[in-house]
Amino acid sequence: MIIHKFENQQELNEAGAGIITALVQTKPDAVLGLATGSTPIGIYEEIVKAYNKGRVSFKNVRTYNLDEYVGLPDGHAESYRTYMNEHLFRHIDVQPERTRIPNGNASDPQEECARYNRELDEIKQVDLQILGLGHNGHIGFNEPADELHSGTHLVELDHKTREANARFFPSINDVPTHALTMGVGTILKAKTILLVVRGADKADIVHRALTGPITTQCPASLLQTHPHLIVLLDSEAGRNF
Ligand code: GLP
Repeated sequence: MIIHKFENQQELNEAGAGIITALVQTKPDAVLGLATGSTPIGIYEEIVKAYNKGRVSFKNVRTYNLDEYVGLPDGHAESYRTYMNEHLFRHIDVQPERTRIPNGNASDPQEECARYNRELDEIKQVDLQILGLGHNGHIGFNEPADELHSGTHLVELDHKTREANARFFPSINDVPTHALTMGVGTILKAKTILLVVRGADKADIVHRALTGPITTQCPASLLQTHPHLIVLLDSEAGRNF
């Protein structure tokens, strides 16, 4: 595990974007595992800047997102598909059909999870998986539990997670109750994992996840077992390191 701590957000964003663009420059058909939430936005902005300067092309890249809410209508402002279009995809030359996100509106969510798993099995390995961290230690939408799923599956969101995400919706009642998420097994299969954590409110959970016991009650703690884990922390999230 390599941990980098940054004094300012801009340096963190440039470092994160630098890791991703360097990979795509050396491997133009790389497979990227992408995350949503507030954490990666600055990194996506720096990727767009590098693309606009002609430093990198994404036309042969494939992307697989971690998760999607269940039941938000197509084009909903808070769907993860909309998020990815707005923050990244529409600004770069990635081919839309190569950007994959679980379909949260599938009539049969279980079948959609199986379909997403088949796609992920076919590509064999994600080259670089970007991850944020939930306040309860979740990664993707893998919530603390006695048992974790390996592959993509339907989850009921923790009340804490819905509270944390309520800031993006008119009220907590509008936050979906379920989501589809890649499982921890799929996440851990990625060749390299880039975990990004910001803010004092995550200082304790990121410390517990990376130095505490490995337990399904803190899904991010399983990342300790990964051979190529890079962690980017701002100074507040990294105050315990
Ligand atoms: C969300 C997402 C995660 C994200 C996490 C942290 O619910 N499903 O993929 O990493 O919670 O979000 P944020 O970066 O906004 O703190």
